[in-house]
Amino acid sequence: TGEIIIAPSILSADFAKLGEEVRAIDDAGCDWIHVDVMDGHFVPNITIGPDVVKALRPHSPKPFDVHLMIAPCDPYIEAFARAGADIITVHAESGPHLDRSLQYIKGFGKKAGVTLTPSTHESALEYVLDKVDLILVMTVNPGFGGQAFLPSQLEKIRNIRRMIGDRPIDLEVDGGVNAETVADVVKAGANALVAGSGVFKGGDYKGNIEGLRAGAEA
Ligand code: DX5
Ligand code: ZN
Repeated sequence: TGEIIIAPSILSADFAKLGEEVRAIDDAGCDWIHVDVMDGHFVPNITIGPDVVKALRPHSPKPFDVHLMIAPCDPYIEAFARAGADIITVHAESGPHLDRSLQYIKGFGKKAGVTLTPSTHESALEYVLDKVDLILVMTVNPGFGGQAFLPSQLEKIRNIRRMIGDRPIDLEVDGGVNAETVADVVKAGANALVAGSGVFKGGDYKGNIEGLRAGAEA
């Protein structure tokens, strides 16, 4: 299956000691740090802003994969870029001007990602395929960690893998990815896996990350 990227979501970390938690998942062998940004408007929860990303930045040299669940998103992209995000992913549903948002992200020298909620068709990606570095398929409705994986999204993952062709685009999956669901997701064509509860539950971050890697090979 080539190299699988494991991106633990710090949404499932202990927010009272986030810096320590970021160091712990880095030490445990993660590839990216997934940061879930929620505004209480686009999604029914409020989490992390650019100042928190900036405060966490010195705690790991690994890529910060910042998932913006906010609308509008454009007014905050510069702040996240300056705070140290490496990949900035926006929702296709968060506004009418996805192409503009992606160009804006690229203008700051950052990797640009686009994500789809479970009800959005993959055709929303068709005219931005040559502008994205990452496509994120949400396999839960965004807003909370610990929700059940939606198997309806496996077909979407397969279809997007086909659409990507030989473009250098990472295909990432987010929501309910754990030891039970990881094999299906990777077989469908994903190469980057976000896991919140799947990494943080039980406290054995290294064991959980290794378990995900083993499941991805199965
Ligand atoms: C959901 C977030 C996810 C979430 C994943 O809105 O985007 O990153 O934290 O958590 P799990 O892996 O527990 O489903
Ligand atoms: Zn996320």
